[in-house]
Order: sequence, then C-alpha cells, then structure tokens
Amino acid sequence: MTVHIHVFSESEFDQWLDKSDKYIDRWVKSHGYAPSHGASLIIPSTSGDIASVIICLNPKKAARTIGKLVHKLPGGKYKLSVADDNHHRIHALTLYWNLACYQFSQYKELNSPERQLITDKQVDEDLLNAQTSAVFMVRDLINTPAHDMTPTKLCDYAQSLNASYQGKVKRYTGDELLEAGFPLVHTVGRASENIPELIVCNWGDKGPLISIIGKGVTFDSGGLNIKPSRYMYPMKKDMGGAAHAIGLAHMMLATKQPCRIQLIVPAAENSISSNAYRPSDVLKSRSGKTIEVGDTDAEGRLLLADSLTYACESSPDLIIDFATLTGAARVAMGPDVPCYFTNSDEVAQHIKDGSELHEDQVWRMPLVDSYREFIGSQIADVHSTGSEPYGGAIITSLFLQEFVSATNWVHLDINAVNNRTRDGQPKGGEAQGLMCIFDMLTEWIKR
Ligand code: BES
Ligand code: MN
Ligand code: ZN
Repeated sequence: MTVHIHVFSESEFDQWLDKSDKYIDRWVKSHGYAPSHGASLIIPSTSGDIASVIICLNPKKAARTIGKLVHKLPGGKYKLSVADDNHHRIHALTLYWNLACYQFSQYKELNSPERQLITDKQVDEDLLNAQTSAVFMVRDLINTPAHDMTPTKLCDYAQSLNASYQGKVKRYTGDELLEAGFPLVHTVGRASENIPELIVCNWGDKGPLISIIGKGVTFDSGGLNIKPSRYMYPMKKDMGGAAHAIGLAHMMLATKQPCRIQLIVPAAENSISSNAYRPSDVLKSRSGKTIEVGDTDAEGRLLLADSLTYACESSPDLIIDFATLTGAARVAMGPDVPCYFTNSDEVAQHIKDGSELHEDQVWRMPLVDSYREFIGSQIADVHSTGSEPYGGAIITSLFLQEFVSATNWVHLDINAVNNRTRDGQPKGGEAQGLMCIFDMLTEWIKR
C-alpha cells in the first residue's frame, strides 16, 4: 500500500483542512497541530494503519527539511501530493527525500527500513538518479577510513568510473610521478607506504573542454608540522575534493552533457617518515616555479598546483577544482557553506543562480590582488603559506592562481562533511556545492 504525504504551505493549510473529512479535522486539532515549516503529523486509519501523512513546507523555505520527516516514518511506499505543482520544487523534495535515506553500512549492519518514494511524473528520473548516486558516491568515498581509501584505492575508483563511460585513462604511480612531471604530488606523498598516484581521465570528443580537479589527500596528519589530535581526527575526509570531482564527472556523464571532460585526481597521504618533506624545503613545481614550504600541513595547495599546471596545458574552457583546503574557509563560512573563488564574473553569476535554485549554498570570496605580496618568498618564486595570519582562504587561492594560466577557473574550498545530522541528512561525508556547480556547468556550456 502506498501512503500519501500531503505537502502544503502555511496559507494552504486551512483550505486543505476544510476539504478533509471530519475525522481528519478532529485528529489534527486534537493533536494541536499547527502548520509551521517542517511540522508533520501521521494520520491513522480507523483500523490503526497509517492512512496518510501531512507536512507543512513553506515553498520559500528549504525543501531539504523533508529529510526530517523521512526518519519519523516506518518502512514502506510513499507518494507526495503537493498542492503547488512547481516541478523544481517536487524534484527538490524527491531528491532530498532520497538523500536523507543514505546510510553508510560498510562496517556495520544497519537495518533501517526502506522508505521508498514513488517519483512523480514531473520528476526527471535520469537527473534524479544521477544526483542521488553522485551524492551517495561522494559520501561513501569520504566516509571510508584512510586504510581502505588509500591513494591507489581512490584512483581505482576513478578508473572504474572511466571504464563505465569508456574514457581514456592515464595513471602515474609512485616514482612515475617524477618522470611524468608531477614533482609536488610525489613530494607530498612520498613519506607514506601508501604511495602517491595521479589519475587523468578524458571523456568525449566534442564541445567545450571542462577540467575537473579534486584534492585527494587520503589522510592529512599534517606531516612534520603534525596536527593536534582534535584536528587530525576528521582528516580521512581530506580527499573530499577528489570525491566531489569524481561525483561531478559522474553526473555530467550520466546525463550525457555535450562537452568534453577531463578529470584529474592527485592522490597522496600526508604522512611522517625520515623522507618526509620539511618546512623550509624549496620545491620545484611542474610549472618551473619554485616554492618555499612554509608548513607541511599546507599540502593540498601543492597537489593542486601541479594539477592546475597540467590542466592548463590542454587549454580547457573552464577549470573547476574542489578541495578541503583551509581551516580559514571554515572560520569564515562555518561548516555548511563552501566558499568559492573565480576569475570569471560570468561563471560566478551561473553559480549564484544554481546555488539559489538547488538550495545548495555557496558563497563567493574575492581574489584580493594586493594580498599577493603575502606569498612572496626571499629565496623562491612563491611561498606556500606566507606569514599573514588573516585571510587564509583568500591567500591560499592566490597561491593556486599562480598556477592558472589564462582560462576560466573556479576553486571551491569545501568542508565535505556534515558535522551533525542536518535536516535528516546524516552526519559524516557530504557533497557541498555539487548540485550548484553541476547546474552552472549545464547552463554555461550552452553559451
Ligand atoms: N586539510 C586541511 C584543511 C582543512 C582543515 C579543511 C579542516 C577542512 C577542515 C589543510 O591541508 C590544512 O591543514 N590547512 C592548513 C594550512 C595552514 C598550515 C597554512 C590550515 O588551514 O590550518
Ligand atoms: Mn594539511
Ligand atoms: Zn589537507
């Protein structure tokens, strides 16, 4: 049996109640139900089954609130009946229902019941499935602990995606990174027995070239500048950028977007050993620029520097990179809102539109030119951290920009986890800005 979930706004409630039968009217009133955003109530039949469910969702407020309802319901089949038939809204409600059903059961049996939502005719099922599977993929990758998500495993995962969409793949492992010209990826990863790797996948032969890069630090101990325990604990998530890049490529391919895609995942574990790189070392990058290492915990920007240089060699129309890059971005924005930097106002406008449409909040921060002087070095072309204590997310983006030659570029500094269960979406690995960037891309490639 399929249970109907009646969705209405505060203002639609009285009208809905008037049309309902007396029994429902009495149940609703005797429970003191008042329609406010997110308030739900299960209505039983006279035989004691669930007859229907009601939930008030203000169309101007988050569709993701429906996630809270999911966990109040037993297993079974459900169908939404929404008074307002805006198809974006219905799509969003369905997506957030799906996303609330996620569980990470790789290491523990979790017997939470299946709550299946029958999709409405207005929902684009291919898109919905691409979105749901991409987010689940991102969460699974992030939630998997570092011993099971080594650089090799991470690249294997990208390679399996490559195979399912028949792309061309190149992979550089361990010392091959030196011959292939990725010295910084090698440097960051060389102290770990889980050797560093970099994978490049190319799909498609027509349309604009989109280069997607993700920071793949499978565990960030901080290196010799070791992190205090409290900050080290969450660092299995430091490949969250790579997970997002893989998820975005998957969405683009699953929905057959008319463009070429290049996915680049530099993967390394930032570890400690006698051959670990050191603060004050001077490294030579792929681009030829020399970098003075300010802190070995600033490893992500090094992986990205060589990857950005490599990406630019194919003259892409747009480069997108995702990275759990700085604590400073979290200080600025809190845990749920990624910040992004771009050299293109046009791309920024599309991101803003996508962000609003999908309630996938991201916020632009500026590439402040005059801060460039903070990453000057006395003995190298550029310093990896600089000495200015404020504006870390911006200064780091300026460092990245040193490795981007004339092309459109977006950098997202993400947290990649929910630090608490948020509107029914579980604590742990999370896709942030993914729907928004996907939307931007689908619009942007139409130009
Ligand atoms: N992976 C971290 C940044 C991070 C921390 C992301 C917490 C998300 C949550 C990155 O490699 C790092 O350690 N950055 C340092 C840079 C500093 C040493 C200049 C930071 O932000 O503290
Ligand atoms: Mn670090
Ligand atoms: Zn890191």
